[in-house]
Amino acid sequence: MTSNGLSRLGQRIQAPPISWLMKMALGRPQLISLAAGFTDNETLPVEETRAILEEVLGAGSNGQAALQYGTTLGDSELRELTAKELHERDGAANEASVYSPERLLITNGSQQLLYMLSEALCDPGDIVIVEDPTYFVFLGALQSHGTEIRGVALDTEGIDLEQMRSVLDQLANDGLLPRVKMVVLVSYYQNPTGITTSLERKAGLLRLLREYEPSAGHPIYVVEDAVYRDLCFAGGDTPSALALSVPEVSERVIYVGTYSKPFATGIRVGYGVLPELLMTVVGRIKGNQDFGTANLLQQAMVQAIRTGRYASHVTRIRQRYAEKAETMCRAIREHFPSEIEWRHPRGGLYVWARLPEAVPTGLDSELFQAALDDDVLYVPGELCYAEDPTRAKPNHEMRLSFGAVPQEQIQAGIERLGNVLRRFMD
Ligand SMILES: Cc1ncc(COP(=O)(O)O)c(C=O)c1O
Repeated sequence: MTSNGLSRLGQRIQAPPISWLMKMALGRPQLISLAAGFTDNETLPVEETRAILEEVLGAGSNGQAALQYGTTLGDSELRELTAKELHERDGAANEASVYSPERLLITNGSQQLLYMLSEALCDPGDIVIVEDPTYFVFLGALQSHGTEIRGVALDTEGIDLEQMRSVLDQLANDGLLPRVKMVVLVSYYQNPTGITTSLERKAGLLRLLREYEPSAGHPIYVVEDAVYRDLCFAGGDTPSALALSVPEVSERVIYVGTYSKPFATGIRVGYGVLPELLMTVVGRIKGNQDFGTANLLQQAMVQAIRTGRYASHVTRIRQRYAEKAETMCRAIREHFPSEIEWRHPRGGLYVWARLPEAVPTGLDSELFQAALDDDVLYVPGELCYAEDPTRAKPNHEMRLSFGAVPQEQIQAGIERLGNVLRRFMD
């Protein structure tokens, strides 16, 4: 036989590193996993969801409708409630048309939207610019589409605009600007670094991209992946890039949100606000993929929001994550060598730790193996970096999550890891 019969995508696709890490954790009950990006198990809203489902399906409700197919773009009430909440958070004075429910699409987790965006915008050989490091599951989706990726470093305010300019200049020199389709920001409590992008930085990025659009010959979209926005526990909220949607930048921002992280990861309802053209095209892709997110789950979210249970749950988990982050940071202070750089997060689920460059943390490193031998797992930083041909992949960082690991194991996990780190660094 001359071929295995797979499509190009089927041949290109690689095993997602996340499955490997998850399998590792499942097979070893004594292992403390600081790797999983899961939410806190103990606070998942079991009681609330039971009551919600009883209300959605109970006598006097329209249970049949909830158990029937819905529409491709999503339940109209959920679209309205979500758009209204987003508008209020960004500032009620902002242009209302940007937050119209007509522009809001309900998806099966935000992950589905990210995937559909790569299908709607990218052909093999097209270029996506991401933060360096970034959310590694999306890197897998982009890679499977044959997309090329360029990483741009982050500072404390978000993506570095000077480096962004030099990457764009280099692409222009190489005649590759027409292949640049989108820039992806994980803009709140970024996965993996915990950094939040300031509004000024989002505005600067949109202005900068605008300068390059004439040579690109098409819009260069900014995807604002805001899935951790609700998980803030210190400092205030920052408006999204939609709040900048004055005429010259409107139709360039794609906002990606979710109810998965702030309510229940098992409910997995996500959403996006899209420019008109993409709303049409991504809506068609969704029509082909599943013609609508599970209706029952959407009805459950409507009921959670309507009854105030969603808001009180979010308040509760913010407090919970604040405590867990504090426990992790206290343990790091106590057990990690002082040369390791890290920052106390203000939201989200992660602490990003940077070791001296001479100490590799990757999957093949002795340190990763020693941590596993001592029953503690972290996400090697290298997994969060794209295959970018213009730079070597950093290999001396780690992502630590306080999301899923029970409070009492955080201290023990960090202590184990700290002991391993001291062995390697002393
Ligand atoms: C940055 C980021 N975006 C999107 C997602 C997908 O989340 P969901 O599909 O559950 O909404 C995740 C999940 O970990 C994430 O970390």
